Amino acid sequence: MHKILYIPGPVEVRKDVLEKMSTPLVGHRTKEFAELFHDVKGKLKQLFYTENPVMVSTSSGSGFMEAAMRNLVGKKVLNCVCGSFSDKWYNIAIRCGKEAEKLEVDWGKAIKPDMIEEKLSTGEFDAICVTHNETSTGVMHHLEEISEVVKNYPDVMFLVDAVSSLGGAKIEVDKLGIDMCITSSQKALALPPGIALASVSEKALERAKQIPGRGYYFDLLELKKMYDKDNTPYTPSVSHLYALKYQLDRMLEEGLENRFKRHERLAEKTRKWGKKLGFELFPETGYESVTVSCFSDTKGMDLSKMKELMGERGFSVDSGYRKLNNKLADAGKPMTFRIAHMGDTTEEDLDTLFGAYEEVFPKVGGA
Ligand SMILES: Cc1ncc(COP(=O)(O)O)c(C=O)c1O
Repeated sequence: MHKILYIPGPVEVRKDVLEKMSTPLVGHRTKEFAELFHDVKGKLKQLFYTENPVMVSTSSGSGFMEAAMRNLVGKKVLNCVCGSFSDKWYNIAIRCGKEAEKLEVDWGKAIKPDMIEEKLSTGEFDAICVTHNETSTGVMHHLEEISEVVKNYPDVMFLVDAVSSLGGAKIEVDKLGIDMCITSSQKALALPPGIALASVSEKALERAKQIPGRGYYFDLLELKKMYDKDNTPYTPSVSHLYALKYQLDRMLEEGLENRFKRHERLAEKTRKWGKKLGFELFPETGYESVTVSCFSDTKGMDLSKMKELMGERGFSVDSGYRKLNNKLADAGKPMTFRIAHMGDTTEEDLDTLFGAYEEVFPKVGGA
């Protein structure tokens, strides 16, 4: 039995989208491929609200996170850390041999613009990494406020991990002055995992020219050279591009604004439902994600049993991000569990899911 995915990625992929992955292949050095890629490029610009190129990589989002470090950090990078994925980006920077500093808050809290201002004003940094939506804690940052600060530092590359938000929340890349905005296929875009997308600004491409050791696979200049020819430097996942084109058409047909509003409604519905049942939201008030809700398990339920029983009912659900829950358990605090509501999920889908949870909760100590 297929379990419908409500984990925060990979998310459920519609059957018609999945079927596009089995479109008969063409070689990537053909006119047919160039036409497909050209078409996708234009649609991606709409999705990212940018005039910058949006590159496609056959990797997961982590590939482009590494690319950002290898291509764009010369002096030192400021990593805003508030959970596991933002912490990972710091580790990527270190492993790429870059000088990096953490600006860290307690997991579940958000990074505020004044904290960033204080750090950037030292003049030590030439790049900043912000995780828009920290999937491990369900915190969504206020990118507009942060961008107001970063804009005052034109020599600082503004690098944004929008892996679990782009396509579910509006991110106006050019208006916000984001130099590299990264996302993965398997989250709010509701595609199978395997490709990553990233917008890259002119300023970023200029910076990359000054940075040695960019490597090959994630060299932004190589990617750009081939991008301009409607192609990629090496064999891409052509199958993903068929599915991406189809899904972008669907998204534009729904209307991007409508899609973002739907995500807001789903988030609101999930929060209300969880609170009604007596759970508390884990993220700092005012910073709750629109794509994934993270609840504090104030009832001390058996979360692995909950996951198992939900599985028996046909749903693949989350029993909390392990690293976060271990931290919370060590501190004697309630653990967390998350419900993803991103991609192509509908309100009716959530009603069915919530019905199953309500059957399961009394059996795992959550009556
Ligand atoms: C916020 C965030 N950043 C980065 C990643 C890593 O992305 P990927 O698994 O596509 O490499 C994830 C994955 O869950 C994520 O949620």
